[in-house]
Amino acid sequence: MATTHHPVSKGERQKWPANFDVERVRKDFPVLDQTVHGRPLVYLDNAATSQKPLAVIEAEERFYRHDCSNIHRGVHELSERATRSYENARVTAQRFLNASDSKEIIFVRGATEAINLVASSFGRQNVNAGDEILITAMEHHSNIVPWQMLCEEKCAILRVAPINDRGELLFDEFVKLLGPKTRLVAVVHVSNVLGTINPVREIIEAAHRKKVPVLLDGAQAAPHLAVDVQELDCDFYTFSGHKLYGPTGVGVLYGKADLLDAMPPYQGGGDMISSVTFEKTIYNSLPYKFEAGTPNIAAGIALGAAIDYVNGIGFENVAAYEDELLAYATEAVSRVPGLKIIGTAEKKAGVISFVMEGIHPHDVGTILDQEGIAVRTGHHCAQPLMERFGIPATTRASLAFYNTKAEIDALVTGIHKVKELLG
Ligand SMILES: Cc1ncc(COP(=O)(O)O)c(C=O)c1O
Repeated sequence: MATTHHPVSKGERQKWPANFDVERVRKDFPVLDQTVHGRPLVYLDNAATSQKPLAVIEAEERFYRHDCSNIHRGVHELSERATRSYENARVTAQRFLNASDSKEIIFVRGATEAINLVASSFGRQNVNAGDEILITAMEHHSNIVPWQMLCEEKCAILRVAPINDRGELLFDEFVKLLGPKTRLVAVVHVSNVLGTINPVREIIEAAHRKKVPVLLDGAQAAPHLAVDVQELDCDFYTFSGHKLYGPTGVGVLYGKADLLDAMPPYQGGGDMISSVTFEKTIYNSLPYKFEAGTPNIAAGIALGAAIDYVNGIGFENVAAYEDELLAYATEAVSRVPGLKIIGTAEKKAGVISFVMEGIHPHDVGTILDQEGIAVRTGHHCAQPLMERFGIPATTRASLAFYNTKAEIDALVTGIHKVKELLG
């Protein structure tokens, strides 16, 4: 199989366009144009999954209508087209993260699988009895449980860096927990519950001073912030396509080539080998060593389309607009009497979680749904974080660049209605 690598230097990054017109952007998302329970849909559950622009829907459809074939194995035209599109998507993902080489981009099912891959492969190889993995108190279950499983298997120890009442990492405490036994730091870039943007550069610098590699869970960061893995100097970075306006079933694990090269495969099967006999198997080179079996080809291609779409709008525009919207929403929501925002970090992106005096979040979500407003309620796959704040659940409104100030107003009106009915 031919492997083409496309090194990208930092200077080559896309120049972002300057204009942003939310009403025009909304027209690209067909799902937004509907009523729910007789009200215009207000979709504020973007941290769970975001909606897909036509460019993504059409990329999937184009694959199945015109190019459907397996990749990396056929000599026929359709297979070559499919392979080309899939590998182009890998280069698009490489440029998106500013990785230095496309072989550092491993396609996986999503952030969850990416973290499990690192725990199973890097973890099993490098973590032994008495060693430590360091995470934070604001991790999603997918950045807790794989490490717990590894620690159980290896008699290793999971250390948890604490946070303050605003939902910010206590950096000094984090540094104190970085010890001679720490084998990996695994930290969320942006919290899915609190919206906190972690000081990842400082975290990486502190860990590297102790020669400890760092994995960043970028599931909630990739849709909101421009990420440059070379500038950050992180060792692993993960994100899910479906939170980045792409399809479900695909995501990316970035890893530094020397680390990935030294790691054993995650799964065995087709495509991850270079030769097999019953006596011995020689593994394929990167990235294919970690991509056993037929992947979600259509989703990979459509993820490339999603990244192209966001790049077309411009990440600076996205970030600036979302910042403005978050500030507007925070101000409006926090004026509701008896409502408390959980997660008031100085640096935040995309998320407002809140609790209301005497009203269960599930009831808040149900009444908002009757108003056509989609929010998430529950523990958000972060039960230890709920425990840290002494609450069972929150209501979470999470933003995307297609949300509007009018939708935030609708949310606030909806919350007042909840108070009227249940308060
Ligand atoms: C911070 C964070 N990490 C990881 C994940 C897991 O992503 P996925 O379910 O797409 O694998 C999520 C999903 O909500 C998340 O918010």
